[in-house]
Amino acid sequence: MNPYPEPEAFGDLYESLSEILITADQIQARVAEMGAAISRDYEGCHPILVGILKGVFPFMADLIRTITIPLDVDFMAISSYSPSAREHGVVRMQKDLEEPINGRHVLFIEDVVDTGLTLNYVLRHLQNRGPATLKVCTMFDKSSRRLIRIPVHYKGFDLPDRFVVGYGLDYREMYRNLPFVGLLKAEVFQPGKKA
Ligand code: IMP
Ligand code: MG
Repeated sequence: MNPYPEPEAFGDLYESLSEILITADQIQARVAEMGAAISRDYEGCHPILVGILKGVFPFMADLIRTITIPLDVDFMAISSYSPSAREHGVVRMQKDLEEPINGRHVLFIEDVVDTGLTLNYVLRHLQNRGPATLKVCTMFDKSSRRLIRIPVHYKGFDLPDRFVVGYGLDYREMYRNLPFVGLLKAEVFQPGKKA
């Protein structure tokens, strides 16, 4: 059971999808399993969960409410200088963490790990600050698209090499509010075309 409206209630957003890949029930059940594992593994460690805005916020919000040990939460915001800079994994920090992380047990929370380029850059940045440990927890993993090796310690679901929306993942800033994950119809998803 989940507290969210049925898919059909999302009207035009739902009508734009060709398929639901992962239901809200599946997501909530998996999040609870991940939260239980994190609660066990970090017992007595008082971890700090770090996420990048905006895509991760629904997952972060659900996940922390399934973790039963004391923890802190912090967020960063980043933006790409340009598409080519992004290809090299170079990003600009728009909002840094508010808390120091040296000596802390840092658990990095991601919505989706795709090529891994952005995450690799951010992880190096965090590692330089001397955390006691630094691990990665992602809701979705597109491992077939990886261009750089990223250690993923907690993973919700594997995704195919397709563009998906929902549960924080957007297409032109929309669809983040869907409590499930789906594929967009071909006529809706036009990556080349300007919004
Ligand atoms: P990468 O791992 O550096 O390629 O970047 C991953 C980022 O690309 C994620 O944090 C998302 O913001 C975005 N992204 C990757 N795949 C998807 C998708 O299927 N839908 C929406 N956003 C995606
Ligand atoms: Mg993201």
